[in-house]
Amino acid sequence: MTQRIAIVTGANGGLGESMCKALIQQDRKVVGTYIPGHEEAANSWQESMKQQGFDITMKAVDVADYSACKALLEEVENELGPVDILVNNAGITRDAPLKKMQPEQWQAVIQTNLNSMFNMCQPVFEAMCNRGWGRIVNISSLNGEKGQFGQANYSAAKAGIYGFSKAIAQEGARKGVTVNSVSPGYIDTPMVRQVPEKVLDMIVEGIPVGRLGQPEEIARAVAFLTDDNAGFITGTNMSVNGGQYMA
Ligand code: CAA
Repeated sequence: MTQRIAIVTGANGGLGESMCKALIQQDRKVVGTYIPGHEEAANSWQESMKQQGFDITMKAVDVADYSACKALLEEVENELGPVDILVNNAGITRDAPLKKMQPEQWQAVIQTNLNSMFNMCQPVFEAMCNRGWGRIVNISSLNGEKGQFGQANYSAAKAGIYGFSKAIAQEGARKGVTVNSVSPGYIDTPMVRQVPEKVLDMIVEGIPVGRLGQPEEIARAVAFLTDDNAGFITGTNMSVNGGQYMA
């Protein structure tokens, strides 16, 4: 069988790297995306992955821009073939308590974390359905499940991912296309390391497993849900949060 093509947005971010590695270990051809203007970082990351034996094609795209996403997906299909697996992982934080949150902070997070789901899924969804096979995993968050002080924007965007995923899971179900979300808790990544130390210590105290998660622990969930044998799992959410929130 020909190798399936997987796209991971935000590939060179804290969680993306592990996802790319896990998908390659599942014999996928992986295309990663990075933020336009960050070519140098993306190139050196790609080179270091190559040295570790992971060959990843890198493409720049702003996931907040529908036309750019559509163009990127067409480019990948023309150069490599149909996209069978899509992992919408790219995301940002602009944390502030609501009283201080500016409209720009709200818009940026909704645009990048929620509208990106539409921007990346819409251009490939019909073709996946027509081919009778597809796997979409949308990365949400613990804080979309429970809300988080200082994250009205992020919690709203991440909660929106559940409704979006469940709606299109129904549209894809009879066509062999599964759509699920994964909700990481606090994982040892640069994004989480930005949280003030005192606040983070308090958060870790509230994690029953007693530690931050590791990126590989999220990648494992993504690999599971995108597996060829995962065709009966759709419209669900997998929480990977060390027991911090049990829905
Ligand atoms: N619960 C209750 N009170 C809290 C609180 C919390 N979780 N966090 C902060 N506070 C309180 C502080 O104790 C302080 O109280 P006092 O005024 O009585 O001293 C007050 O809120 C601070 O308010 P400020 O208006 O001064 O807030 P600030 O401008 O300093 O910003 C913040 C606060 C940006 C929200 C900061 O606390 C913060 O970064 N919190 C962490 C937010 C967080 O968890 N982000 C997750 C990032 S990682 C991620 O998003 C990945 C993922 O999916 C899990």
